[in-house]
Amino acid sequence: MNNRLILRNITRTFRDGTANRTVLDQLNLEVAAGELVAVMGPSGSGKSTFLSIAGALLEPSSGQVEIDGESILGKSPDTLSKLRLHKIGFIFQNANLIPYLKVEEQLRLVASLAGIHKADAAYRARQLIEQMGLSHRSSAYPDKLSGGERQRVAVARALMNDPAVLYADEPTASLDSARGQDVVSLIAQQVKAEGTSAVMVTHDERILSLCDRVLLLKDGRLKEHP
Ligand SMILES: Nc1ncnc2c1ncn2[C@@H]1O[C@H](COP(=O)(O)OP(=O)(O)O)[C@@H](O)[C@H]1O
Ligand SMILES: [Mg+2]
Repeated sequence: MNNRLILRNITRTFRDGTANRTVLDQLNLEVAAGELVAVMGPSGSGKSTFLSIAGALLEPSSGQVEIDGESILGKSPDTLSKLRLHKIGFIFQNANLIPYLKVEEQLRLVASLAGIHKADAAYRARQLIEQMGLSHRSSAYPDKLSGGERQRVAVARALMNDPAVLYADEPTASLDSARGQDVVSLIAQQVKAEGTSAVMVTHDERILSLCDRVLLLKDGRLKEHP
């Protein structure tokens, strides 16, 4: 199995007054290419901390993170930001689009940051806009889009750099049920088509059937969801 994301014995503690609080405790996870894994867990259980570590935004206190065959341990901030730009896609609860850029321009901005050739970027942006069902919206500004449309732009933007791994932190939290299912089924389709490894943190029971595996973050570790 070609695992594109491997977390090994991840521990993370935070200073809490005078004591250390252990949020992640020897957590292990492997996600294969083309696999969409859902992670559930109560508020404060460490889900965002876990995604930040998997996304090279936060260092673990100990343990290993491997993305697309490469260990990120001990890499410089510059190397990590390049890794995020080229290998990782992020989707958050809110789309966080840039207000003064049209849909198509939001996507091309990511491509230009990642150093993708202009013609390739334009092609990829058009392709993703079509796949997200947004062709008629490609020249619209974010304030003219519905919540579901905005989140689909955020999905397209996260996929622009053709990432090896994709992370979503409660991507449906601001959407109604039908819109939420649309967004997650688009994520699932892309993950299958591109062989991306994806982890989605969610509280939304209605989208679990669209995921390949459901895990529960409890006592600092990931367990099979009963
Ligand atoms: N930067 C930080 N400094 C101190 N404590 C933190 C920090 N980030 C998260 N925590 C603590 O870690 C725990 C887990 O937080 P978080 O990962 O945001 O949980 P979740 O996303 O599951 O709600 C919380 O108790 C939170 O207060
Ligand atoms: Mg969180």
